[in-house]
Amino acid sequence: MIRTPWNERNGRFSPLKAIVFAGLFLPAAWIVYLAATGALDPKVVTEMIHRTGLWAIRFLLLSLLVTPLMRSARYTKLVAIRRMVGVAAFAYASAHLCLYVVDQHYDLVHVASEIALRFYLTIGFVAWLGLAALAATSTDAMIRRLGAKWRTLHTLVYGIAVLGLLHFMIQAKADITEPAIMIGLFLVLMLFRLALKNGAPAWAAALAGAALAPPLTALTEAGWYALVRHIPFREVLDANLDPDMAFRPSAFVLAGGTALLAVALLRRNPEPKRAPQVARSAPSGAR
Ligand code: HEM
Repeated sequence: MIRTPWNERNGRFSPLKAIVFAGLFLPAAWIVYLAATGALDPKVVTEMIHRTGLWAIRFLLLSLLVTPLMRSARYTKLVAIRRMVGVAAFAYASAHLCLYVVDQHYDLVHVASEIALRFYLTIGFVAWLGLAALAATSTDAMIRRLGAKWRTLHTLVYGIAVLGLLHFMIQAKADITEPAIMIGLFLVLMLFRLALKNGAPAWAAALAGAALAPPLTALTEAGWYALVRHIPFREVLDANLDPDMAFRPSAFVLAGGTALLAVALLRRNPEPKRAPQVARSAPSGAR
């Protein structure tokens, strides 16, 4: 039987998989459309590098969201799209790398030396190698072949995400709003997983993410500006509490964490109704 991305394991058509599969192509189609209509002129390739990089990191984080969302919403069918979204992150990162090669006039020696010499490119490249390893081992045959080792190998995704986020943060230079938001959302997901691993129910895991990730985001943002741009730490930190300031990354992260918490609370299992014990366990004659 031929397996297509929009079919379930039993061969049945899955509308969820079909919609997600089509959706993964939309950013690429939009980027190509903008380039073809001159909307990215005059720096078409540079713009395309930025947009493909952004979608690579977005899809990577979305693939990490699948499990927390599935556990919070109690919607196990979501697991079917995790692999697809992860492979899309690799595809966008590969397009990003190819466009960088085009931007460097196909001079592979120069590309290699830039990757070796510029720290943010080095970590981007290591992240890409990691994504390539995960994509190459994502087929059913490889999952079967690797057995228990597959799970261990795929925990690499967290390290890869950290490298991708660092690459994003370093190249952002003056304004780190979007990378800081992404880092905060990543923290929401990691805190969720950590709490779940320690036996917490989904709602408590979501609460941990929603409560702890926003202050950690504010600290990361203030620390970064202090270290790289020499802006006083307290000044950036205080901006988080200033109602006159535009929304800070911590506010977006709070919104994201709260949304996950709301899903977990709405889908929280009501206390299971206890069956009357006596009636159940007593021998029939005793009733
Ligand atoms: C394969 C090695 C990679 C190379 C050579 C590379 C190269 C670049 C370059 C040249 C830029 C633009 C920097 C600037 O304009 O100053 C960039 C930005 C970016 N890259 Fe990469 N990158 C690589 C891997 C990755 C990976 C694996 C990801 C994500 C998982 C990623 C995500 C991003 C993001 C999010 C941006 C910023 C986009 C924006 O703010 O508009 N890159 N990268």
